[in-house]
This record gives sequence, structure tokens and C-alpha cells, in this order.
Amino acid sequence: MSDTKATISFTDGTPSVDFPIYKGSIGPDVIDIRKLYGQTGKFTFDPGFMSTAACESKITYIDGDRGELLYRGYPIEQIAVQCDYLETCYLLLNGELPTRSKRDQFVGTVTKHTMVHEQMQRFFQGFRRDAHPMAVLVGVVGALAAFYHDSLDINNAAHREISAIRLIAKMPTLVAMAYKYSIGQPFIYPKNSLSYSANFMRMMFGNPCEDYEINDVLVRALDRILILHADHEQNASTSTVRLAGSSGANPFACIAAGIATLWGPAHGGANEACLVMLNDIQKMGGVEKIGEFIKQVKDKQSTAKLMGFGHRVYKNYDPRAKLMRETCHEVLGELGLGDDPLFKLSMKLEQIALEDDYFIQRKLYPNVDFYSGIVQKAMGIPTDMFTCIFALARTVGWISQWTEMIADPDYKIGRPRQLFNGATRRDVLPLDQRS
Ligand code: SDX
Repeated sequence: MSDTKATISFTDGTPSVDFPIYKGSIGPDVIDIRKLYGQTGKFTFDPGFMSTAACESKITYIDGDRGELLYRGYPIEQIAVQCDYLETCYLLLNGELPTRSKRDQFVGTVTKHTMVHEQMQRFFQGFRRDAHPMAVLVGVVGALAAFYHDSLDINNAAHREISAIRLIAKMPTLVAMAYKYSIGQPFIYPKNSLSYSANFMRMMFGNPCEDYEINDVLVRALDRILILHADHEQNASTSTVRLAGSSGANPFACIAAGIATLWGPAHGGANEACLVMLNDIQKMGGVEKIGEFIKQVKDKQSTAKLMGFGHRVYKNYDPRAKLMRETCHEVLGELGLGDDPLFKLSMKLEQIALEDDYFIQRKLYPNVDFYSGIVQKAMGIPTDMFTCIFALARTVGWISQWTEMIADPDYKIGRPRQLFNGATRRDVLPLDQRS
């Protein structure tokens, strides 16, 4: 129990109340206000959850002031260089980095689940070819639940485990199918002799008429992109997955809800929106027009935002943005695109913004989405697929956080309250008496 407390006193005659304060292993203390309503008849008010810890977790820690991101205590800078994505998945799911034998066993298990039921193909046929791939992905991931009636008992640890494996294993297959469907090419089955990321690249860019040539630099770059996007504590989509899961919904439905939330341009849709922004500035005239665009962004009458900049938690540089910029350099160098106009434009835009008081005062720095679109475009991934790749990567974070919550015997259904300021009680008038 806690030996430190917070006391709330009221000027309206409500008796003051003490609340315990808990310390985490790192990060801000929390005030346990669960008894507030029962003892005072009052709610807290925190739209956007600016000051609210919605849960207890051991998975990912972010220090927004220091620009630090830890997966199970390991700095993202070390994981991105020393691990691959499936090792990172093992770490997020199990809490420890795998030994070589455990890693090989995990990779083998995931690899054996990369195919989807043949009838899944029929779901794609129902979409227009020009449907946004995220609309398709929300649909087909939710539909996975229709194929696994034998393992949807969320209180069964084995069912939770196989669902996590199936989701991690099948997301690349489904994302690649969404892409192939959009361009009218045949679906490419997984080739299990390949690594996770190489398998995905082949399903995306291979075709039945010729062998697909693996480019190790691009495969490693994709693997790093997946690592950087794997988890990020209680962001909007992860909070959605937890809230959906708190009702007892099956994991496939919860992940589909997370995908829907990630789609928003303020969240995972920012990488696509960032590239659209860079293209718009390019069409305006490129580097010479950056000042004009920044002026729009500062204009409160304008809805223009500097996409890929700013973050609710990071009030310093997003450590993932630095690693993503390095990956950008590597990929553009490998592809002979060092003079890529969009990359040069983005670096100039970043430099100007970081020197501008508007952004400095508001502690707005590049986030993970600022460079990820440029590197994915260079790799041949179409802009409207960027957020699908983000969803692919974040699936392990979502399912790890979901598992952590469901495995806690004390979890409750999430049910926030409100500050109501609508119409008070009144009687219905008959239709002809209404004005
Ligand atoms: C992700 O939560 C996570 O962890 C998310 C994520 C993850 O891995 O899960 O990190 C992934 O979603 C990264 C963020 C991607 N989104 C974008 O790049 C979109 C652009 N950024 C903004 O929409 C915004 O910065 C948010 C949504 C990311 C954060 O918004 P906040 O914390 O609610 O901050 P705010 O909107 O209250 O902004 C504070 C001020 C405001 O100005 P004032 O009203 O004080 O004058 O900063 C301004 C905002 O107008 N501002 C921006 C800006 N972001 C904030 N102004 C211009 N351009 C921007 N990008």
C-alpha cells in the first residue's frame, strides 16, 4: 500500500478526502482517485486524458521530456540496431528478450501461421479496387474472428496465445493482399523459407511470373520501420484496443477497432498525410514555398498543420524520428535517390521549423511519422498503404497490451462518465403543440 497521499479539500462544504499516491518503477506518480465519486459525488474532468493514467502496465515507457522510449526497459535505439522485429515481438509479448533457441522456436511458430483461410479472399472481392486499404484492413481483420470459433475464449491463456500468434503472423499476408487487390494483381502466398520482413516484401512486390529478388537493405529497413512502430504505451489506438477488450470482445474485433482508430490523420494516418503535405509544398514551388506554408500553419484561421510534427507526450525529439531519418538516408543511398526532392524538402522543412519560435514555444518536434512516409515511398510502398504498414507493426503492441489487461484478474469494463450540460428534465409535447 502507499504511505504518501493527496488530500482534496473543497470550498463547497464537501468534506476533504485523502487519496493514496502510487509510485511506478519510473515515471510520474499516480493519485488513485477510484473512490472519489463514492466519497464526494464528484467526477474528475479530463477530456483527451491529458493527466490520466488509465491502467498499470509493464510493457512500454516513454519519457516525453528526455525523448526516451523503452520496450520492456530496453532503449529503442538499441533494439532497432541489435534486434529484428520478431525478437521485438517476443520481447513485447513475454517481457524478456529471447535466447537463440526461444527465438528460433517463436519464429517457427509465427511462420507456420502466415497463411489465411482461402475463403478470406472472397472478402476482398466485395470492395471496390480503389477502396482505401485501411477500410479493407479493418474489415478483413475483424472477419478473422469468423474462422477461429475454437479459440476465442479470452479467459483461456492458450487461446490468448494462439490469437496473438495468428494476428502477428497473418497481418503481413492481409496487408499485402489489400495492396495486391488494389492494383489488380494476384495474391502472393507466403514463402516460409523467407524471414518475416522478406516474406512481406515478396507478398507485396512479387508476382507469379518471375522470381522475386530480395534486397537485404530494403528488408532490413522495413524490419526497422516495424520495430519503431511496434508499441507506444497508451496511445489512442492502444487505448481503444484496451477499452474494446474490457468488454470481453474477442482479440480480432479489438485489433480491428485499433486499426480503425489508427487511421486518423492525428494518429497513424499522419505518415500518409505528411507525404501529401510534402507533395503539396512541392507543387507550390518546393523549398522556396516553405515559408508560405509555415505561415498558413501559424494562421489560426487555417486548418493546416505541420504533419509529422508534434506529439502529446514527446516535448523533445521523438527518438523514433532520428532512427527513421537514418533509415531514410540508408534506403535513399541504396536506391541512388540521395537527391530525392521530397527528402531534401523534408530536411529543409524540419530545419526551418526547429528554428521557428512558433514550434519551439509549443515544443513541436518531428515525430515517427515525419520521415516514415519518405522512406516507404522510396521503397515503392504507395502512400495509401503507409498506415496499413503502421497497423501491421503495431499489432504486436496492441495484442501485448490486450493480453496484459485480460490476464489481470482485477480488470474491469471501461466506463467513463461525463460532465452533462444538456437539457434538464422536460415533458414531450404532442406533435401539433410543438413550436
Ligand atoms: C502518432 O500517442 C502516441 O503515442 C501516438 C504515436 C504512436 O506511436 O502511437 O506516437 C503515433 O500518432 C504520432 C503523431 C502523429 N500526428 C501528427 O503528426 C499530426 C500532427 N500533429 C498534431 O495533430 C498534434 O501534434 C498531435 C495530435 C500529435 C498532438 O496534439 P496535442 O498533444 O493534443 O497538442 P495540441 O493539439 O493541443 O497542440 C498544442 C499546440 C496547439 O497550438 P495552440 O492552440 O497552443 O496555439 O501546438 C499546436 C496546436 O495548434 N500544434 C501544431 C501541431 N501540433 C500541435 N501546430 C502545427 N502543426 C502541428 N503538427
